[in-house]
Amino acid sequence: MEDIHISSQIKLLTEENLRLDGRKLDELRPIKLEVGVLSRADGSAYIEQGKSKILAAVYGPRELHPRHLAQPDEALLQCVYRMATFSVEERKSPAPSRRETELSKVITEALAPAVFLKYFPRASIDVYIQVIQADGGTRCSSITAASIALADAGIPLRDLVAACAAGKIDEKIALDLSDVEDKNGQSDLPVAIMPRKNLTTLLQMDGVMTKEEFSEAYELAVKGCQKIYEMQREVLIQKYINIQDEVSEEEENEQSNGD
Ligand code: CDP
Repeated sequence: MEDIHISSQIKLLTEENLRLDGRKLDELRPIKLEVGVLSRADGSAYIEQGKSKILAAVYGPRELHPRHLAQPDEALLQCVYRMATFSVEERKSPAPSRRETELSKVITEALAPAVFLKYFPRASIDVYIQVIQADGGTRCSSITAASIALADAGIPLRDLVAACAAGKIDEKIALDLSDVEDKNGQSDLPVAIMPRKNLTTLLQMDGVMTKEEFSEAYELAVKGCQKIYEMQREVLIQKYINIQDEVSEEEENEQSNGD
């Protein structure tokens, strides 16, 4: 059965509170973000967070099929989260699982508040998320990637959505759990925020924490989200700097050819 936390048999922390991968309790896994990775999509992004690797592709706003799902006053945001059969240790069945259906819904709800859906009545905005390699925290990494893929597609946004989990391992609160920590830890708290307005768009909890631990984990997760937000902004700004450089180079070439 998925999503069951069994008390740890594995020691997840050293005496110095270092984790199995050498991280401190408040440290994120190494993150790599890219945008515009798929030429056929209207917008796309790729994220590596530790060993998790995820692609997000955005199509739209476009005509919605079947038409009866169309909403007269706003666009329908539809996110589909899928794991590749080879993305986890034990081969995943290609048939969509209940977990994937749930995560698709949760991710849609985490992103929707950031999108100006009212600008595109009757249309559809489709986000396809493919987990290529899973190593914990994939719902949060998916939200982070999908959010910059939406921006890459030029879809008007109120803000980006940044996501990150915190959890409890060996009785301590830790940021951004990996798969082994998630499976052997005591609890996991995925959080997504729209940082500019300080709005929380995702808050889930798996396992057990005291009220105090919950507050500590939530605050740590928000700090993680804020760091991720800076990385999201950076990669989007860099994209436009690159475009600007290309345009100036083309202009210079045209001028020198004209001379
Ligand atoms: O990925 P996330 O933490 O958002 O979701 P989860 O349901 O808590 O799953 C935690 C981790 O379990 C995933 O990231 C995968 O590494 C792993 N998993 C797996 O090994 N096999 C599955 N069928 C589903 C998840």
